[in-house]
Amino acid sequence: MVTCYDCHGIHTIQRPDNPFSTVNSANLLETCQQCHPDAGSRFTGVGLAHSRSAGKSPPILSWFNRIYFVLILAMLGFLVFYILLDVLKRRQEKKELLRQVLAEK
Ligand code: HEC
Ligand code: HEC
Repeated sequence: MVTCYDCHGIHTIQRPDNPFSTVNSANLLETCQQCHPDAGSRFTGVGLAHSRSAGKSPPILSWFNRIYFVLILAMLGFLVFYILLDVLKRRQEKKELLRQVLAEK
């Protein structure tokens, strides 16, 4: 399991903007390469969940996020709309049936 100290170090933990930090942009690739020896210069741009540099990840990722957000909202919205329509229709049908039964008497 990869955990905090694998990237941040142990007694050497520093803020990312400190040039001696293992997660400073100047040293980051080297840190990743300890376990990902084939990592190239673009590797550190993948954006770790908690890193501010996540914003530097390819714009297509944030576009997918937005598209998913809209899709999920639209899907939920249509679902609620559909259920409402169904409820209305069932009520209408009940009324209709009642009217027919009463008319037969
Ligand atoms: C895979 C490597 C990796 C792991 C594992 C990792 N971090 Fe980080 N962390 C980073 C990098 C890279 C940054 C700097 C990102 C940036 O430049 O904004 C960072 C930034 C941070 C910051 C922000 C510091 C600041 O001043 O902005 C904190 C706090 C932090 N990490 C805590 C943790 C904790 C706690 C864990 C374990 C639960 C952890 N990290 C695990 C790579 C890692
Ligand atoms: C201590 C070893 C170690 C270090 C250091 C490390 N990784 Fe990893 N990384 C792993 C292992 C093991 C996996 C696969 C298993 C897993 O996901 O936990 C992995 C998986 C990944 C993946 C695959 C996708 C994912 O989220 O599972 C990415 C991307 C990645 N690492 C990026 C990084 C970056 C960027 C850094 C440097 C900031 C880094 N790693 C540093 C060991 C490491």
